[in-house]
Amino acid sequence: MAAGAASAAALAADRFAHVFRPDEVRAEAKLTTVPSKLSTQGLTLTSLEDITHYNNFYEFGTDKGDPARNAGSLKTRPWTVQVEGLVKSKKTFDIDALMKLRPLEDRIYRFRCVEAWSMVIPWVGYSLSEFINQCDPLPSAKYVQFLSLDNPSQEPGIRTVSLDWPYSEGLRMDEAMHPLTLLTFGLYGQVLPNQDGAPVRVVVPWKYGFKSAKSIVKVKFVDKEPHTTWNDMASNEYGFYSNVNPNVDHPRWSQKTERVIGAPIWKQRQPTLMFNGYGEQVASLYSGMDLKKYY
Ligand code: MTE
Repeated sequence: MAAGAASAAALAADRFAHVFRPDEVRAEAKLTTVPSKLSTQGLTLTSLEDITHYNNFYEFGTDKGDPARNAGSLKTRPWTVQVEGLVKSKKTFDIDALMKLRPLEDRIYRFRCVEAWSMVIPWVGYSLSEFINQCDPLPSAKYVQFLSLDNPSQEPGIRTVSLDWPYSEGLRMDEAMHPLTLLTFGLYGQVLPNQDGAPVRVVVPWKYGFKSAKSIVKVKFVDKEPHTTWNDMASNEYGFYSNVNPNVDHPRWSQKTERVIGAPIWKQRQPTLMFNGYGEQVASLYSGMDLKKYY
């Protein structure tokens, strides 16, 4: 797994040349990583080209190719993440300190978008719980909210799309503390390309992709379910939980199968797995809950 990611990274290295823009942190592009027991084994990785050119990042436009075209204007240094809300005291983390907080792990995860396409992505990061422990949340904190950068001068698409900016997402505290939930700084052994949410995003592998906020600038601990961007937009289509679930269809399409991005034509459709294949690890978080009601 980690070896696979490393050799894949080597193979991909030359392809990065056209992905990086001049104003990115190219000098530190390669990350020092360690293997992870939490990486998913036996999967075929999606190519770096597809991971970086088929994106949802509406701050840079709504077309799948817009983030790759437009995200060069995002400035990822200096960058801080503010922590506020129900914590012992407010804190501000510098991105470079944040990246050194714990060893960066190679974690291959399935990635399933609510739009019924999927990828397999070799992320780099550490469990979000490690960061949350540094934030000293109060016992009254029941949820954590993630807020993305809202800066029209760097994000040309942000005022052209009518969403309630900044992009906001949230998790229940036990979901956020689950070891699979990844604070993510890179992919394919390199720093995150801007279009994938540089310099820091969250990845929650058993939930639809929109739960993973990109380019995070604020983390807020709260006692009530926070408002979230896509739920505000259409609450009947995008629930707060949004666990990958082949038995609960989106009102406008089936969630039973998914289109595998980049796969050969005869392997392009595959069945969607409950909790995206991570049920053994996470199903207990939802025991007793009606997942049709809490979609
Ligand atoms: N985060 C922000 N800030 N803005 C966005 O538009 N899109 C979400 C999520 N995080 C989004 C975001 C959606 S819908 C998906 S599927 C994933 O990012 C896509 O991540 P990827 O482009 O790296 O595959």
